[in-house]
Amino acid sequence: MKNTVVVGAQWGDEGKAKVTDLLAQNADMIIRYQGGCNAGHTVVVDEKTYKFHLVPSGILYKDKICYIGPGTVIHPEMFMKEILGLVKNGIDLSNLKISPLASITMPYHLDIENAVENDAKTSNKIGTTKKGIGPTYTDKMARVGFKIQDLYSPDALKNNIFHSLNSINPKLQSYGLKTYSKYDLELLCHKYAEYFAPYIDLDWQEKLSEYKKEKKTILFEGAQGVMLDVDYGTYPFVTSSNPIAGGAAVGSGYGPSTIEDVIGVSKAYMTRVGEGSFITELTDEIGEKLREIGHEYGTTTGRPRRCGWFDAVVAKYAVLVSGLTSMAITKLDVFDDFDEIKICTAYKDTRTGKISSSYPTQVFEHKFFEPIYEVHKGWKCDISNVRNYDDLPQLAKDYLKRLEELFEIPISIISVGPDREQTIFL
Ligand code: GDP
Ligand code: IMO
Ligand code: MG
Repeated sequence: MKNTVVVGAQWGDEGKAKVTDLLAQNADMIIRYQGGCNAGHTVVVDEKTYKFHLVPSGILYKDKICYIGPGTVIHPEMFMKEILGLVKNGIDLSNLKISPLASITMPYHLDIENAVENDAKTSNKIGTTKKGIGPTYTDKMARVGFKIQDLYSPDALKNNIFHSLNSINPKLQSYGLKTYSKYDLELLCHKYAEYFAPYIDLDWQEKLSEYKKEKKTILFEGAQGVMLDVDYGTYPFVTSSNPIAGGAAVGSGYGPSTIEDVIGVSKAYMTRVGEGSFITELTDEIGEKLREIGHEYGTTTGRPRRCGWFDAVVAKYAVLVSGLTSMAITKLDVFDDFDEIKICTAYKDTRTGKISSSYPTQVFEHKFFEPIYEVHKGWKCDISNVRNYDDLPQLAKDYLKRLEELFEIPISIISVGPDREQTIFL
């Protein structure tokens, strides 16, 4: 296997964790490169379900190095909760490492996020996961945040506590929230230093260089998806990091030349959680049917996911901005009982009548765009036990062939059920 990035090609929850777990068997190291515990990643093995938020989805293999990279943000309590859950499930964490350069989500980041999300008058309601992601990345970029390495340097702590308090307390006050003292932050940081000590990798530079020399195979695991990317997604209704494959070069410690393959993950339809434009959204009984059959409820928040037909305009955009080399199509089995399946091939601008298959990035104009659909016949049989492409019904093959034609890269993996086994490799 080549060094590969697994990236969500839609609005998250595409089944990235299942694909990461599948590919991890042939990798030496799995790196989570961005995001935090806003991610909810599900892996099913022999009917047992594992859920991950920060820990890379390769952790089920004992011998793989799992690395939480510099581009991530880590909420210490939520991290500990995840760790304890995994230990309870008998999962070996001896190969789990965290970059000292990862950023820390402090309790006040959650306080601020709650206040901002509830303040509809002065801010965009995003429908976030309320895990403090935006405020943590905001502080990182404003250079007043805490990195994990700071916990182990008295001078860094002194400096950062001083500047964080100056930055955060006026904000907290403006929302009528509890402020923090120097002592509060010292206590928190002391506690966090203990939490992270077993996982911290202070000699990461030597290790990463060594792995590179040894030609270890690296799998980069993305969280969220292209359409939630802070630069390329449906801004401002996005997350605060770069899920696109380019984010792997920034958020892993390995530069772009290390990346050899980029696999996009798309459901056979689309979903979205939270606010923001979704041109092929179905608010009728078909959307409801997709939600129920596909169990489309958030892994992290339990919120019902909005559902819609496959949007090839979005897929083509994801191929471009993430440099995808192939696509994994998941949840094809969800269509087993559908008479008709639609694919959006282009949008019509109702102001001008112009039809285009280029994604319009001005999301506040999306109300003027209508999806143009083509209709495919459903295969109307159970495909969840199919393991070879040749054994798929012809109508399912036709649907996949048409998708490939539209997004102009090959499909490399087809998933027909949540279990590791329910997979067709091409
Ligand atoms: P991620 O965030 O991209 O890793 O995806 P999630 O884990 O949040 O959501 C994907 C959901 O779909 C999980 O519950 C998976 O177990 C499930 N899943 C993945 N692939 C398939 C598939 O091919 N068919 C079905 N029915 N479920 C799948
Ligand atoms: P995985 O990795 C789906 C969405 C939220 C919200 C927006 C911003 O499981 O695919 P945030 O808390 O990040 O500030 O929220 O992004 N969102 C996700 N949607 N899957 C995810 O992760 C998501 N992580 C964030 O619903 O719309
Ligand atoms: Mg998810």
